[in-house]
Amino acid sequence: MIAKGSAVDETDMRADLEKVLIPEEELQEKIRELAAKIDADYAGREILLVGVLKGAVMVMADLARALHSPVSMDWMAVSSYGSGTQSSGVVRILKDLDADIMDRHVLIVEDIIDSGLTLHWLMSNLESRGPASLGVCALLRKPDAAKIEVDVKYIGFDIPNEFVIGYGLDYAERYRNLPFVGTLAPHVYGGSGEQEG
Ligand code: XMP
Ligand code: MG
Repeated sequence: MIAKGSAVDETDMRADLEKVLIPEEELQEKIRELAAKIDADYAGREILLVGVLKGAVMVMADLARALHSPVSMDWMAVSSYGSGTQSSGVVRILKDLDADIMDRHVLIVEDIIDSGLTLHWLMSNLESRGPASLGVCALLRKPDAAKIEVDVKYIGFDIPNEFVIGYGLDYAERYRNLPFVGTLAPHVYGGSGEQEG
């Protein structure tokens, strides 16, 4: 049964959505821009895209298809202990890479840089494995939440320090399938525990 449009939209979220922060068309346009820069910078080299599960699945899928460079894809899942929507920088590997990244041109693909602690940890972990180069492409960054500076060459959008969902980003595993990035109404979130990308 297809009662309305072909994809999930803001009307599916009812009172859970506060506002749409980045509409689908802007996300897709930005991904194409990022892909063009990456293609130019990596010309003649094969890229190993490392997606951080689960939040990066959408940006990985769209970025990979916007690139003309030859790419392989691999995935890591990490979990950072923290309270509720805050990460602590204490990171645990839930799923490691399948590939050996020694002498490869590795580009980490992230959904969001919040405190930067997870990415900082991930970069030093991957750096120790001897890649030919290590770069980062993150769709979103919250400059006001930074606890540590990380050198990120490809950034989609700087956003306010608010909890966001959609386009891979979840709250309690929901809302990842929204094609836009939005903010969640404050009444929806709270609590504490271990947070997985
Ligand atoms: P940091 O940079 O603080 O971020 O180590 C760790 C991970 O937390 C997730 N994260 C979010 N997830 N909405 C989400 O759905 C958000 O606003 C948000 N901020 C951080 C994300 O997985 C990030 O990699
Ligand atoms: Mg998450």
